[in-house]
Amino acid sequence: WKKTSLSVVVVGASGDLAKKKIFPALFALYYEGLLPEEFHVFGFARSKMSDAEFRSMIAGTLTCRVHARENCLEKTEKFLQRCFYSAGQYDEAASFQTLNGRMAEVEAGCGKPRSNRMFFLSIPPNVFIAAAGGAADFCSTKTGWTRVIVEKPFGRDSASSAALGRGLAAHLREDQIYRIDHYLGKELIENLTVLRFSNLVFEPLWCRQYIRNVQITFSENFGTEGRGGYFDTYGILRDVIQNHLLQILALFAMEPPVSLEAEDIRDAKVKVLRSMAPVRLDDTVLGQYRSRAVAGGKTLPGYLDDKTVPPGSLTPTFAACAMYINNPRWDGVPFLLKAGKALHTRRAEIRVQFRHVPGSLYKHKFGPDLDSATNELVIRIQPKEAIYLKINNKVPGLGLQLDTTKLDLQYQSAYKANELPDAYERLLLDVVNGDKRLFIRYDELEAAWELFTPLLHEIETRRVAPELYPYGSRGPVGAHYLAAKHNVRWGDLNDDDEP
Ligand code: BG6
Repeated sequence: WKKTSLSVVVVGASGDLAKKKIFPALFALYYEGLLPEEFHVFGFARSKMSDAEFRSMIAGTLTCRVHARENCLEKTEKFLQRCFYSAGQYDEAASFQTLNGRMAEVEAGCGKPRSNRMFFLSIPPNVFIAAAGGAADFCSTKTGWTRVIVEKPFGRDSASSAALGRGLAAHLREDQIYRIDHYLGKELIENLTVLRFSNLVFEPLWCRQYIRNVQITFSENFGTEGRGGYFDTYGILRDVIQNHLLQILALFAMEPPVSLEAEDIRDAKVKVLRSMAPVRLDDTVLGQYRSRAVAGGKTLPGYLDDKTVPPGSLTPTFAACAMYINNPRWDGVPFLLKAGKALHTRRAEIRVQFRHVPGSLYKHKFGPDLDSATNELVIRIQPKEAIYLKINNKVPGLGLQLDTTKLDLQYQSAYKANELPDAYERLLLDVVNGDKRLFIRYDELEAAWELFTPLLHEIETRRVAPELYPYGSRGPVGAHYLAAKHNVRWGDLNDDDEP
């Protein structure tokens, strides 16, 4: 780093993601001292703005974590001095040439002989390839590396994803492309491999012999509210399940990788995806939230009440599906994925339900409902990150009464001093360091689409109507039938499991 500067270009700098996530993450990396001494941020978007206006726009998005509050204003000011703006069209060579000129000028000013450049494409999919081309063809550095970060949607199905892949490949080598799935940057997902491969008590149990089913769930307690335009073309299967939840599944279920190197981990993940059969409509439940009257004469709006959603849309805002991995480790174990918007709570978690103790000496203590007495490991990704294991225990006292209790690791109390970094901080730092472990390789993306494309096409051609569920509920009843069909009971329905 001593001889190299770093320029980070945020393409789509006035967008929501840039303001909410990218600038705050870059700022956090800066004040933690994790960026090279000579780094600069360039905003690029269509709206005209001066550097000063750009700086005041991002100033409003930056905050320091508790431990970094000292001199926060000063740090903010120093960071802003390193931010520049260039307006332009995403599909116009001249705009990228102008950007390149500004970057070269700023880089020359810092006196480092080499410069690395990284681009974050935070723009709508229709201008993806044009902008990637502009960045690669007109703004590649001659003295270091050029890397481009792209984020979903990576197409709408196998064919459109392949077309996008070809478009990017025309301008960039695979090693320059960083496909983000921000769920892989979350602390508890980073911890998944540590939990499993560094604890003797887990890895030997990680198979069909001991695990009855695995549930990976995501819920939000708000609707699409204003984002309906984007959401409606994708729906929850493409927005959350085909990427975030499937990535978690692959990481959870992979065989031990040869090493922790990016290619070894990604080889192990892609094998899981390729061992799965495409999801079937019979094993899927679709839902869409409808309005609900609440106290005070108010009404929570339904999906179709969102002005940005086309009238009569059948797009699912909820989906649950059952999948299987056809390999010796997981044969016959249902993996249930469930995601929904406008549900009763905001939560993402992995639940691992274990089998019964064979020939248990305490069977008579649990009555006929043996399922309530099996162990369950819960990895709560958010909020209130936690890992807990439900175990059976003797209630203290003279009698022999058993109950189910938790071995409970709550991050907030166990790691009081460690504020958790945002997923984007980890991922941006990985790009700076060239670490691709948490990014999606092209063959993984292809395998993920193959699992969902037939289902998505069937839903669309048959115009399958989603089951309506009230805003703020636990989702459509069909999800329970789906679980029952696979001999599963959703674990997230217990109120004592609320974060
Ligand atoms: C995004 C989806 O990828 O993830 C959104 O497009 C969703 O619909 C979001 O709200 C959830 O991310 P997080 O980190 O807030 O759980």
